[in-house]
Amino acid sequence: MSDNGRMSARQPRHAAPSSRTVLVAAAIGVVITLMGSVWALASGPGEEPKGSPPMPVTVTELPPVEISATPAVDPCADPAVTKALGAGDDAAAIAAFGGGEAFRLAVSSGTAPCVSLSDPAHEWVVVNKARPLDPARYAPASLGGTGLRTTTGSGEARPVVSQALAQLAKGSADAGAGAIGVNNGYRSYDLQQRTYSTHVRNRGQAWADSESARPGHSEHQTGLALDIVACSPGCGEIQGFTGTPQAQWVAAHAWEYGFIVRYEDGRTAVTGYVHEAWHVRYIGKELAAAYHAGGFHTLEEFFGLPAAPDYPH
Ligand code: DAL
Ligand code: ZN
Repeated sequence: MSDNGRMSARQPRHAAPSSRTVLVAAAIGVVITLMGSVWALASGPGEEPKGSPPMPVTVTELPPVEISATPAVDPCADPAVTKALGAGDDAAAIAAFGGGEAFRLAVSSGTAPCVSLSDPAHEWVVVNKARPLDPARYAPASLGGTGLRTTTGSGEARPVVSQALAQLAKGSADAGAGAIGVNNGYRSYDLQQRTYSTHVRNRGQAWADSESARPGHSEHQTGLALDIVACSPGCGEIQGFTGTPQAQWVAAHAWEYGFIVRYEDGRTAVTGYVHEAWHVRYIGKELAAAYHAGGFHTLEEFFGLPAAPDYPH
């Protein structure tokens, strides 16, 4: 039971009943009303009803039964939300909203202006071709290694992300899907510039833009994304990750560790990038669970943002 007396533990605070909620309550009312009629009919035509009649039921108003999250009315007025946001505690903020789906609904419906999807300090930041990092040279406050085998000198991520990736890799190994290592984690603005320029030089700008972000536009610069590789026994290249048992396992289970596969196959028109089975993006366990449960395939659609297939200019 939630703190406002409704039935779902995942119900958002400040929630107004949704149409689905009202429908469920109405349906229960109809069932109860019909009970008396069914009892009367069961006795046969012209007979007095047998046995004890049902207890008289007066249905005036039934408590709504919550079956899904509903948009919060004014979550930004909730001291628990403002306190968590002020403390930079993303998990506590999402919990104060009532969970991942409630948070998503509030943000995507515009009822949570205190949440910025542009602030790179938060795990819910959305960076794409139309949404550059602000500031352009943003760098995370701290970075840490994953403890996994790493094939470049850039294998770090935010500590919470590195720890989650280590757990994900353990999950893959424990499930028999094979070892996972890291190719690239955090990339500074300057390193992204070098990476992108190398691709342009080697394969042309069109190819580079389909697989590599321009500096100031990469999730790698947030410290929330990593490129992972299969390491069974030796570690492969990122392009070799697609189709491996590890990639299949990651596609199915990454959400359990707070990650999404950010650039799925067939979503280029929304994300602006070709399929990158190796690029995992941390959004935290609550949001990743809501993403998975909702059947989402892009972060843009998850938060109701426009598609970003190209740079604006
Ligand atoms: N490969 C992704 C799009 C990046 O460069 O951030
Ligand atoms: Zn990547």
